[in-house]
Amino acid sequence: MPHRKDEKTRDITELIVKAGEKARRETRAIPEPELTRPIEWPVSCTVGPGLEGAIACETKIGYVNGSKGWLIYRGYDIFELCAYSTFEEVSYLLLHGNLPTKKQLAEYNKKLVDSRNLNNTMRLFMNYPVEGMNAMSALRLGTNLMRHELTYIDREEYKPNLDGVIGSDEDSIPMETKPMGEKDAIYGFKRIKMNRPFKGVNPELHPAAGAESCNHLVSGVATIAAAVARLKLGQLPIEPDPELSHAANFLYMMTGCRPSPVEERIMDVALILHADHGMNASTFASMVVASTLSDMYFSVGAGIAALNGPLHGGANEQVLYMLEEIGNPGNVKKWVKKSVKEKKKIMGFGHRVYKSYDPRARVLAPLAEYLVKKDSSNHNLLETATTLEKEILDTIGTKKKIFPNVDFYSGIVYACMGILPENFTTIFAVSRVAGWTSRILEYLENNRIFRPRAMYTGSFEKEFKPLEKRR
Ligand code: CMC
Repeated sequence: MPHRKDEKTRDITELIVKAGEKARRETRAIPEPELTRPIEWPVSCTVGPGLEGAIACETKIGYVNGSKGWLIYRGYDIFELCAYSTFEEVSYLLLHGNLPTKKQLAEYNKKLVDSRNLNNTMRLFMNYPVEGMNAMSALRLGTNLMRHELTYIDREEYKPNLDGVIGSDEDSIPMETKPMGEKDAIYGFKRIKMNRPFKGVNPELHPAAGAESCNHLVSGVATIAAAVARLKLGQLPIEPDPELSHAANFLYMMTGCRPSPVEERIMDVALILHADHGMNASTFASMVVASTLSDMYFSVGAGIAALNGPLHGGANEQVLYMLEEIGNPGNVKKWVKKSVKEKKKIMGFGHRVYKSYDPRARVLAPLAEYLVKKDSSNHNLLETATTLEKEILDTIGTKKKIFPNVDFYSGIVYACMGILPENFTTIFAVSRVAGWTSRILEYLENNRIFRPRAMYTGSFEKEFKPLEKRR
């Protein structure tokens, strides 16, 4: 069962505790924003472009205090969760509302262990050209295949019976292009009968919107992300080891090597840090999909798609490329001057909600430093990053309240662990799937389809011209 292996990673705990103390010292006096009370609908709020300031729902799951730079999951401070808990405990906390007892954790862990093995999904997955795909696109495909395998919706027995439509000499299925030699193959569905009437479902399968599919996704997205990393290198996926924790398994399935306690711990902390973060774009995207009463797998797919963008989770990969482009600390000043002049967005800086230092960056920065002290091969990368941070804060940062965000140091941490940048954003998804699924479950309790409006600024009463008269 996952537990804190404090003996071998005590210095990591100490770094996190210190970072937490510093954060509290520096931010305690900053006033609270007024975003912590029940809503009486309809609610009045001032909304900016990109729905800035809009209140979409109530939640008990997590709170981002952007003025102070505090992050809370279900009432617990992020620094304490990083210092003393595991991803298993934190994902349970997000999904269930309380930290698990030993017994609850053991039961939950068993579900995660069972769900980690996705042999059938993996068999399907390997029929696709994953090696040439963008990692997030492959992850989204894999999530779709999980849906196919784990829910009753697409099961063989509920699929149309194609006998009688395709001749025995034809191994093709009905398609828009008429198969050779098959007279009645196109649009033949009207003649198809169901294999079995759609009555009742196999209880071992899932209603695709329920709590079990959350466990499957929290566990299985990691298996797929690890397989994506391997397939992209031309290596075969590795089966999980039931004795390893979620973080250790993820690293093991990705690299083929059982991680050291330090590597396991750092990945665990990274997963805890990224697990939930208010109504961010990917969480909102997944909730919008869920609010239509689509299912958990489709919703998580939407979350993955939104997370991929460089303004959101995709920034962690871009930070690495940016630091490589800068090259060394000596180039930072000139690079920043040019970027500011060209009004370029500096990857890994700024946040819609945090107008102070992102607490996740407060944890990741000392972890990056710790890893570089152990192995100096990424020394230049880290020096370039810290010099860039100082330069941004000295120039535009403090004035515009643009501080390093979670993506600024996470990539350096992953790079120090030998992970390729193309896989950075999938790690974010491996963690955030806990937040997506928790918030969807919570929202579905009082579901109302998301349906904002746009202000129409187009014209009216235009005269319709037939095609031939248009210029
Ligand atoms: N570099 C340079 N200027 C910036 C940056 C940045 N990274 N971020 C914000 N600004 C400036 C922006 O130009 C604007 O200046 P002005 O008022 O003079 O026009 C001001 O700060 C306010 O910024 P904004 O664009 O209105 O902020 P936003 O809330 O719309 O965008 C953001 C937030 C995260 C998309 C943006 O800060 C950004 O593009 N950052 C870089 C990408 C990044 O690191 N994303 C990861 C976000 S954290 C993890 C996650 O949630 O995925």
